[in-house]
Amino acid sequence: MSFNHSDIRLQFPILKKGTYLDSAATAQKPQVVIDSMKHFYETENANVHRGMHMLSEKATTAFEEARTSVQKFINAKSAEEIIFTSGSTEGINLVAKTWGKENLGEEDSVLITLLEHHSNITPWIQLKDENDCAVEWVELDQNENIDITQLDKHLANGNVKLVAITGQSNVTGVRTPLKEIINKTHEAGALALVDAAQLSAHHPIDVQDLECDFLVLSGHKLYGPTGIGVLYGKRELLESMPPFLTGGGMIKEVKRDHFTCAAIPTKFEAGTPPIAQAVGLRTAIDWLLQFNWEDIEAHERSLIEKSFSELRKIEGLTILGPSDPKNISGCLSFVIDGIHPHDLTDIIGQKGVFMRAGHHCAQPLHEHYGIPASTRLSIGIYNNGEDIEKITPAIQEAIKIFS
Ligand SMILES: Cc1ncc(COP(=O)(O)O)c(C=O)c1O
Repeated sequence: MSFNHSDIRLQFPILKKGTYLDSAATAQKPQVVIDSMKHFYETENANVHRGMHMLSEKATTAFEEARTSVQKFINAKSAEEIIFTSGSTEGINLVAKTWGKENLGEEDSVLITLLEHHSNITPWIQLKDENDCAVEWVELDQNENIDITQLDKHLANGNVKLVAITGQSNVTGVRTPLKEIINKTHEAGALALVDAAQLSAHHPIDVQDLECDFLVLSGHKLYGPTGIGVLYGKRELLESMPPFLTGGGMIKEVKRDHFTCAAIPTKFEAGTPPIAQAVGLRTAIDWLLQFNWEDIEAHERSLIEKSFSELRKIEGLTILGPSDPKNISGCLSFVIDGIHPHDLTDIIGQKGVFMRAGHHCAQPLHEHYGIPASTRLSIGIYNNGEDIEKITPAIQEAIKIFS
């Protein structure tokens, strides 16, 4: 379908409420996603995999069709390699607390980077505390991306068993060279986990081409609902892993003193799964895929470039990360001399420009920049040049209030 931007924008009813520049936190939902979930609750709602009536069959079909949509979206070999989770956070915890718990010991380490979100830091710190393994860090190079020379050095030690890396920073918008890193990781005999929470809404993902072992994403950042995410894992790995949560749905058989697990993906989906959310996620994916990725990326690149040139008009404003907008995607963060990001973001929010202030769940990265917090501007497919033009006047007015 052609990339008619004004038409796209009209499909997001909430955009009437203000200038939304906070999509890295959660993206807004097109009307079709909202409608699909309403339709599901009105006409198909039942629990999945358990009933033998018409509604349960419909709900199960809708749920499993959503799995197939996700499989195609990330080009996984099979739908069984798609586990529905509550989000990226749960996906990473699942891997840490199953594969990690079983496979990492005193001699081993997990390699993460300074660009990670807390969701891809804290599960590994917990694992370090529980299993006595190590967590090693890769710092940034002069381009504000992963320092590949340092990555090589860590991998050469022979202790790294897993490299867990974001595909796109949720602070600076830097995209990491995933293919190169994953190749190096495999050459060193380690596995690679990709945090695609940010990347997945801005760039196509092909897990077979990347050859990553695990990948996580969140439905709500992909124009879908909250409460659903995806863990992709290579079949042989998922089959070798113990269950994460146990209970209804994930079992084959339960006796008084033991139980056996169902096959993947069910083994990892204990309890009632997010069924209506899966329907919404499927609709979001179908909706997004009607456009060409080249059009989406070109449109978003022009918005980021415009944001850079607008923000550079403001005295005392520093953009974190790369100085060239070509090297970033989806978001950027900045600080202004003498104004706390929370105060700034609060004032511009009152003027109807919605951004986010804080450490954006990336405290080690903020510590690296020597600041506690920043203001983040993040974009989605629905933003336009006019949105970006509202930022500078709003910030200028806020500066006047504080000076
Ligand atoms: C890079 C990155 N990873 C992980 C997450 C966690 O995602 P969720 O809160 O949907 O689990 C986020 C959320 O902002 C993120 O930006």
